[in-house]
Amino acid sequence: MSRHLVTAALPYANGPVHIGHLAGAYLPSDIYVRYLRANGEDVVFICGSDEHGVPITLRAKKENITPQQAVDKYHEIIKKSFADFGISFDIYHRTSDKLHHDTAAGFFKTLYEKGEFIEEESEQYYDEEAGMFLADRYITGTCPNCSNPGAYGDQCEKCGKSLSPRDLLNPHSQLSGKAPVLRSTKHWYLPLDRYQKEWLEKWIISHKNDWKVNVYGQCKSWLDQGLQPRAVTRDLDWGVPVPLPDSKGKVLYVWFDAPIGYISATKALFAKRNDPNGWEKYWKQQDTKLVHFIGKDNIVFHCIIFPAMLKAHGEYILPTSVPSNEFLNLEGDKISTSRNWAVWLHEYLNDFPGKEDVLRYVLCATAPETKDNDFTWKDFQARNNSELVAILGNFVNRTLVLTQKYYNGTVPARGHLQPVDEACLAAMKAAPVKIGDSIRAFKFRDALFDLIDLSRTGNKYLADTEPWKLHATDPQRVATILAISLELTAQLSVLMEPFLPFTATTLREMLQLKTVAWNQLGKSDLLPAGHQLGTPGLLFEKIEDDVIEHQIAKLAASKALNEQASKTLPPQKASTSFDDFQKMDIRIGTILAAERVPKTDKLLKLTIDTGIDRRTVVSGIAASYEPENIIGQQVTLLANLEPRKIKGIESHGMILMAENQAGELAFVAPVKPMDNGGSVR
Ligand code: MF3
Ligand code: ZN
Repeated sequence: MSRHLVTAALPYANGPVHIGHLAGAYLPSDIYVRYLRANGEDVVFICGSDEHGVPITLRAKKENITPQQAVDKYHEIIKKSFADFGISFDIYHRTSDKLHHDTAAGFFKTLYEKGEFIEEESEQYYDEEAGMFLADRYITGTCPNCSNPGAYGDQCEKCGKSLSPRDLLNPHSQLSGKAPVLRSTKHWYLPLDRYQKEWLEKWIISHKNDWKVNVYGQCKSWLDQGLQPRAVTRDLDWGVPVPLPDSKGKVLYVWFDAPIGYISATKALFAKRNDPNGWEKYWKQQDTKLVHFIGKDNIVFHCIIFPAMLKAHGEYILPTSVPSNEFLNLEGDKISTSRNWAVWLHEYLNDFPGKEDVLRYVLCATAPETKDNDFTWKDFQARNNSELVAILGNFVNRTLVLTQKYYNGTVPARGHLQPVDEACLAAMKAAPVKIGDSIRAFKFRDALFDLIDLSRTGNKYLADTEPWKLHATDPQRVATILAISLELTAQLSVLMEPFLPFTATTLREMLQLKTVAWNQLGKSDLLPAGHQLGTPGLLFEKIEDDVIEHQIAKLAASKALNEQASKTLPPQKASTSFDDFQKMDIRIGTILAAERVPKTDKLLKLTIDTGIDRRTVVSGIAASYEPENIIGQQVTLLANLEPRKIKGIESHGMILMAENQAGELAFVAPVKPMDNGGSVR
């Protein structure tokens, strides 16, 4: 029995979580851990919120709250989503916790005292208006690699290249919008170039054959480019303060402190278990298997930088494996928080209450294990209806209902076995090992496929033996068939647990079966003759077209909104002279009366007090304003526009209106009441 320390990437507490998160790191890690637990192995499963870094402060700024308020809010939302979907962390910790600050600061101090860091003054971008250095995402500019004009100071999201602020062309501050200036500042760097030569490259190459191809490939390409020293501190006011004298205004780089969060969380877990030193054997004993589950944008941090930190520290083990998934797309498009192109976990549960396992199933079946993959609602429906309902659910249901009908829910005794029975039993015997091996190799899709295949075997067994036709003529035979089907059902309830934990619980209740260890499967019957079952029920239900169409419509609406928002504004018109501008007589007026112009949708006939007269103006604002609501409204009027006949009414001037991209109009009026006739200049 091995000791396992399994981590899932700490999500940024800057927004809720969506299906991409679940499919990338949390579902695979949960399946893995549930399987290990079912085998009685020693495992702790660690996660928590990543609460530092620029993503957090930018979010807080956007919502007009403090960074602490932002992380408090999203920490709870994220934590709840994971719990709702049965992600069975032993602890869900957070990096704003004091224990974490102390742990991360202590870690930095150790490296500092061992002389691991390079200390260096350099010129960095500074926003004079905001009075602040512009780290990471505080600065944007044009990507030197692909010319994307919206690249961040740490990464271009378009081509994926990792950047530093000085790489950007035409840089500007996210705070003031201005071009930054350069200022000198001191930081601490991890000498990755030195580590590469000393041990890091050798260590990674030693994993060529046991790490996933996508993971190894990315590491190799980093190494081939040659690693550079990496700054592990930033000039920011949100984060873990640098624990050195004279370092006011400096914090640890979020990617330095966050992975240390795995250690802090393990400490917190064992503190809770009243075993304050219990965490150490997981982090310090060479026979622990440390496995990091992550998404592909985290590979360099978990395969290169964090191992470098752990090794430099000296007391800790290195990861055994870093099973990273690629990205999950949604209906053919990259999932994006800012474009609201996502299926949010909390929204899913509102729309599909009680169907946690359906999403777990579909995300596992379509997980981007080796390459990017696509989630579509049609596929979601098809997998539910033709796999969960028609195969797994159907087999279990037929077995339980027949047993109820023929034996009042008591497990019958087996008689003489025929070849078809032996074949079914052989499939049952092979499945736990095969599925288990796939899980250990991080091939969760294969494992799930074999689980469904086993229920397909069960369905076929019933179809071939047709016990419902034999009930009158050969009761002994029927007893054998159902006893075997029941045993298979019971085995399925154990094998499905890592993937479909909620359904497994329901099914075990129907079977009146206690928890069974995975590695005990096949050793003795789970359901001996005479065992009394509980009440049968349906495990899954069909999802109808209208439900799916509603989801597709929801996404379409979000796409339409995005397209609206991204419509570019018209470019500035050609310049005009001041004299031309002065020719216009623009004044404040007040609406005295308003009525619709008959047989038109858009036009209102207004009577305006202009200070110099009362006049009629026809205005195309009826889609935005009801006549009765605008009496007394002050307006800005172009008074000397040539009179024009509109629908038979002579209009003397034009009201100025502001228009947004949705085509809504709003009056342009003085911010306090002004005299009618007053000029606008
Ligand atoms: N917050 C990061 C992200 O969402 C992941 C941090 S993983 C950790 O991409 F190792 F740093 F914790
Ligand atoms: Zn780019």
